[in-house]
Amino acid sequence: MLDPNTENSNVQSLDIFPFKRLIFERTGLNYKDNTNQFLPDAIRERMFRACISHPAQYYHSLRKNDDEIHHLINLITVNESYFLREPQHFRILNNFLFPGLLERKKDEEKKVRILSAGCSTGEEPYSILISLVKNFGEDVLDDVEVVAFDIDLEALATARLAGYGLHSFRGVDEITQRKFFNQIGPKRYQVKDKIKDKVHFYHLNLGSETLCTTLHQIDVIFYRNISIYFEEETQKKVFRNLASLLTQGGYLFTSSTETNPHDFGLLKLRDLNGVYFFAKGEDSLGVQPKKVEISKSPASTNRQLFGQGVARPNVASGKVASPPVPLSRPSSSLKLKKKSPDELYEEALGWVKKKNHIKAMTLIQELLKLDDSHKGGYALKAGILMNQSRIEDSRQCCEKVLEMDEWNLEAYLLLGILAKMEGDTREALKRFKSALYLDASNWLANFYLAEIYNGLGESGESRKKYQKALKLLEMGGLSNSGLTVFPLSFSVDQVSNLCQHSLEKLKNRIG
Ligand SMILES: C[S@@+](CC[C@H](N)C(=O)[O-])C[C@H]1O[C@@H](n2cnc3c(N)ncnc32)[C@H](O)[C@@H]1O
Repeated sequence: MLDPNTENSNVQSLDIFPFKRLIFERTGLNYKDNTNQFLPDAIRERMFRACISHPAQYYHSLRKNDDEIHHLINLITVNESYFLREPQHFRILNNFLFPGLLERKKDEEKKVRILSAGCSTGEEPYSILISLVKNFGEDVLDDVEVVAFDIDLEALATARLAGYGLHSFRGVDEITQRKFFNQIGPKRYQVKDKIKDKVHFYHLNLGSETLCTTLHQIDVIFYRNISIYFEEETQKKVFRNLASLLTQGGYLFTSSTETNPHDFGLLKLRDLNGVYFFAKGEDSLGVQPKKVEISKSPASTNRQLFGQGVARPNVASGKVASPPVPLSRPSSSLKLKKKSPDELYEEALGWVKKKNHIKAMTLIQELLKLDDSHKGGYALKAGILMNQSRIEDSRQCCEKVLEMDEWNLEAYLLLGILAKMEGDTREALKRFKSALYLDASNWLANFYLAEIYNGLGESGESRKKYQKALKLLEMGGLSNSGLTVFPLSFSVDQVSNLCQHSLEKLKNRIG
């Protein structure tokens, strides 16, 4: 039997070209020479496993046996991936592209379809959904479809199981990790079902004709960190295939080092705040950022150096250009561009009342970009996030409000409710007491304090607060809650009944 590690292996004198040609025949792809360095090792390993000692014999078995070629491909593909890799792409997707796509798709009664091409072990497609949920809340899962494929069957098996070691979490903060993953073993984490179940994985080959018959009508493609392994001709062929899958107005992301080789006029290269991506036809970004004029060689360095809002030298003229168009917006937001922060706030409020939190959130993000000290904007955002059970994000918004206005009633009320949601009674008590200190006639703070004291068995205090809440509700109704987004869908009568019912029960208690 052949030992793959011995110097005597027949593979040492192996003619690699027939193997390379065979891979080309089967996959339609020419891998670059650096990938071919893997090829002799991969062949050696497969020969060892198949107990074949002659390369020619192995070559024949490859020709006859489809499974064997898959085993070989699994070995030569590079599967390096991790969550939220190149976060600027997710930022652009969330802040600029997705809202416009969503609107267009809603008009067509379709979902936004996003593809992770060459998804490896799944970190990329799951990251797409994680970033969308982080930005728009869980409702977004109903409006989006994520499909993913890879040529490597082993990588796909891992992707479907969605269990990962710490290596995959390089780009993930602790809060995100806790929110979207369950610990399944020492240093092993699995994507939670709500995200995991939403990605559809396929075994497909970027170079194959069947790609275009299996996938179509894709709105956004992530095609990152793969083309670097292909020869130029293959790069063009694959890119053409992918471009044909895109809807008009769709987008394609490559990794930052891969944009230049693909800027050959098939899709438009766009630049938003120094982040580059491709667009097909008339995309829905209202403002047309100028076509990027970059020389072929130093462009990638240029790109990485000039981040958000930083003046970028115009390589063509040698002059320093003004920062890239700051906030190019989807069509819906184009109309909003001229609106003031307060107008955006009002519009967002309107959507909140209609319970369309995604639209509201898009407007609030826009508003906060225009005015980072808009207390109302942060409070509204906190309320929406709280409704979506995004406790930590909501709390951060409240803290931001308190930084600007330490006497803000709404922030204290929201912090109290958030603490209550988390079962942190002490914190909730503290926050509602602060709220009451600011406004003794706030029925909501009285009501929640009554509830908390009741739970703590402090009947006397609880009784007083219920009575006060009842009185205030009789006088002013529910609307004086102190909150912009009211978390409960109760009527005055229902809250009043709740108070009375609790008071009845407390009558029989001593304290
Ligand atoms: C380095 S990983 C990149 C993963 C992910 N896109 C990212 O950026 O994190 C490259 C992936 O491309 C896949 N790949 C290579 N050739 C392919 C082909 N012809 N068709 C589909 N996937 C391919 C490999 O199997 C590998 O999983």
